[in-house]
Amino acid sequence: MGSCSGSKTGKTIRFGISADERLLEKFDGMIAEMGYATRSEAMRDLIRDQLVEFTWTKDDADVVGTITIVYNREPKELTKKLTELKHQNHTHIISSLHVHLDGDNCLEVLLIKGKSKRVKSISDRFIGIKGIKHGKLIMSTTGKELY
Ligand code: NI
Repeated sequence: MGSCSGSKTGKTIRFGISADERLLEKFDGMIAEMGYATRSEAMRDLIRDQLVEFTWTKDDADVVGTITIVYNREPKELTKKLTELKHQNHTHIISSLHVHLDGDNCLEVLLIKGKSKRVKSISDRFIGIKGIKHGKLIMSTTGKELY
């Protein structure tokens, strides 16, 4: 089995939720548009998403994320600074993808792993490089404690 093989399935628990009918109507409309087959599946995704977000609030939690940045390849100082930061943080930046969007613009996705606090601070440094047009950290999960 590969490292992506699933863990044993836990017992499924059924539980009821009370809510204002207007709230539920809105919710049902939204999840129908999103293509969810059932309310349960949508609720499970919401719970997982909140758990991931909560994990990131713990400074020493092991997390995985991606930093997406868009920048102009000129001036060269930006590219130099970018390479410098990548080398400085080589134990955290485990992979990267570079796409030349057109003659001038570049898009990079950096895969970053480590303790939440450290990952966030490294991410801030990348996004804060002068000249970055757009930068965003997508906070994801190692998947270990999500079922
Ligand atoms: Ni490029």
